[in-house]
Amino acid sequence: MGQGWRVVELDAVGSTNDEARRLAEQGEPGRVAVVARVQTAGRGRQGRAWVSPEGGLYLSAVVRPRLAAPRVGLLSLAAGLALTEVVEELGLRAELRWPNDVLVGGRKAGGVLCEARFRPDAAGLAWAVVGMGLNVAQPRESLAPVGGTTLAEALGRPLDPGALRAPVLEALDRAVGLAEEDPQRLLAAWSRRAAMLGRRVEVLTTSGRLAGLAERVEPTGGLVVRTPDGVRTVAEADLVRVLA
Ligand code: BTN
Repeated sequence: MGQGWRVVELDAVGSTNDEARRLAEQGEPGRVAVVARVQTAGRGRQGRAWVSPEGGLYLSAVVRPRLAAPRVGLLSLAAGLALTEVVEELGLRAELRWPNDVLVGGRKAGGVLCEARFRPDAAGLAWAVVGMGLNVAQPRESLAPVGGTTLAEALGRPLDPGALRAPVLEALDRAVGLAEEDPQRLLAAWSRRAAMLGRRVEVLTTSGRLAGLAERVEPTGGLVVRTPDGVRTVAEADLVRVLA
């Protein structure tokens, strides 16, 4: 297992993020990960459900990163990078779609849901839960509605989600380390895998739609988009689509 991690293995659970949050709130010092065989109420970003039958990797890690408040967005980029690296270690080409979707062959193969509590002085994080879902070998029908793919499908061979736990935790350690120590390197590694950068994109945010050139990702984790009305930095979005 990723060195120094305590892993809580569950069979069926509502959401591993909820279990991990509970442990974090109880004062778990960090470096604990909750994994489940299935989730009955898996949660995705923007209040969406994350359908979680057997065959997927459902892992939520409690971390206590040394990140100043304006930089917490880096944690979610770090988690996406970690998943991408694990997919690459399998010999597959993976791509990142801001903020942290992992795509294989243009189809979604993984996602990240980060939840965190700030310290009372708001200077940094008290704890963060990094929830990671990887489509490893779920039944095809469960992914059809979202147009996703599995790593097993992309590889053309069976794959055990349990085999990916340790590599995911190790990659997460490396990526969170970069977020803390060398954000520019993290952003460079992330950007190399983000085919959407330099392309025209459409972004749906809670305050509306904007279209423009996706220029770069900032040290805050925000996406910088050049629109006809000026340069905008998007902190959180519902959907990002490449237009051309
Ligand atoms: C997304 O792309 O919308 C994020 C999906 C995150 C899913 C993972 S699976 C493990 C953890 N537990 C949850 O309920 N969600 C995250």
